[in-house]
Amino acid sequence: MSDATIDSLAPTASPQTRTVRVDLGERSYVVAVGSELLEFAGMLARERLGAKPRRAFVVVDKGVAAPDRHRLTAGLASVSLETISHELHATEHHKTLPTIQSLCDRMTKARIERSDVVIAVGGGIVGDVAGFAAASYRRGIAIVHCPTTLLSMVDASVGGKTGVNLELGGTLKKNMVGAFHQPIGVLADLGTLATLDHRTFRAGLAECVKHAMLSADFGDAELLRWMQTAGNAIASRDPGALCELIARNVAIKARVVAGDEREEAEGISGRALLNLGHTFGHAIEALPGARGVLPDGSELPGEIHHGEAVALGLRAACTLGESLGLDRGYANSVRDLLDRLSLSRSAAGLPSTDAIVARMADDKKSVSGVLRLIVPVAPGQCQVRADVPATAVRAAIESIRSEPAPSRA
Ligand SMILES: NC(=O)c1ccc[n+]([C@@H]2O[C@H](COP(=O)([O-])OP(=O)(O)OC[C@H]3O[C@@H](n4cnc5c(N)ncnc54)[C@H](O)[C@@H]3O)[C@@H](O)[C@H]2O)c1
Repeated sequence: MSDATIDSLAPTASPQTRTVRVDLGERSYVVAVGSELLEFAGMLARERLGAKPRRAFVVVDKGVAAPDRHRLTAGLASVSLETISHELHATEHHKTLPTIQSLCDRMTKARIERSDVVIAVGGGIVGDVAGFAAASYRRGIAIVHCPTTLLSMVDASVGGKTGVNLELGGTLKKNMVGAFHQPIGVLADLGTLATLDHRTFRAGLAECVKHAMLSADFGDAELLRWMQTAGNAIASRDPGALCELIARNVAIKARVVAGDEREEAEGISGRALLNLGHTFGHAIEALPGARGVLPDGSELPGEIHHGEAVALGLRAACTLGESLGLDRGYANSVRDLLDRLSLSRSAAGLPSTDAIVARMADDKKSVSGVLRLIVPVAPGQCQVRADVPATAVRAAIESIRSEPAPSRA
């Protein structure tokens, strides 16, 4: 979003709207966080792309409420953009290449041109799928992200990573095919969160805790403490607390991405740090038979969702950190926050530790076959490490198991 766009939003959008710039030279854009923003997607596209686009190809999540869809399409019509809508069922098993094929078929039939625009309205799955379709269709067309889950607002919609899973021999391999494709702007409309169920809302909080565990190196060392004090307001979805939470998280992600857009750097400033908790998490996410167990001991039904897997991954990362010298008091304060946010404390139905280690080693973040893990080393600070002892990795896995390991995978 150009500065002109921010100015043109200002008089009409809510005065509480916060904006964060993602600084990437000519690919820079702004993330706006606030109420009643969906109606500005068309205006944003016009500001960034001028008079050329004739059509907006809207990829919308099934869960997005009708009034929210109408706000978006009314805004598109007001700037003379014809809307073609395509609804997606957001599951990890639909985040696949056949879905990309059907999106591209639909865009071709609707005669979407290179100068047109894709608008993604949904959670991280819709954002990743629509983003990859936009990156590939006619070798790349512009996209606006309108995230509608907490997780996609604080994380998935920002930074330009897009992609889909591969399913090989019944095993889900997360985000194996994709592209970097920055949006031209992001509109995080808080009103869309009203229809989100508690489980999906909470899953987004896991990525916020992840950011807080990295925040000292990215200009917001107080984020973890603030989340602890604002915990009740966040859990009750107080609009002011949510706006603050999302804007601060986006600012951290924006700083990480600005320093290492394509995840090429090593060390404390690299984008790889955002994988904190993810190598453990991806190994148990959507794993048949595995279920999250909440701090009160109740089991969540069905497979473990992305944010829930990240929460378990963060707990495992704390244990890993402790075995490498992390202060126990800090590790426990992270665990307490995850508990207060009602995020899974352990997982039931996990396969053997060997099987989980093998899935982790398969992670696409491995370099030359060497597993790289993100290890918390101090409050708000993490490091990328390729030398973590296997015994420490195994202990970290054991720490999130809610029942004895099965004797066989
Ligand atoms: N690209 C990135 O940088 C990045 C970063 C983090 C996560 N991700 C990806 O994001 C995905 C997880 O995203 P998610 O947690 O948003 O899950 P999701 O996209 O699966 O959405 C979760 C559920 O919420 C529903 N939903 C969405 N918006 C709604 C609304 N406003 N009201 C009611 N229901 C709604 C969906 O239908 C779905 O059932 C994973 O695939 C993960 O790999 C990508």
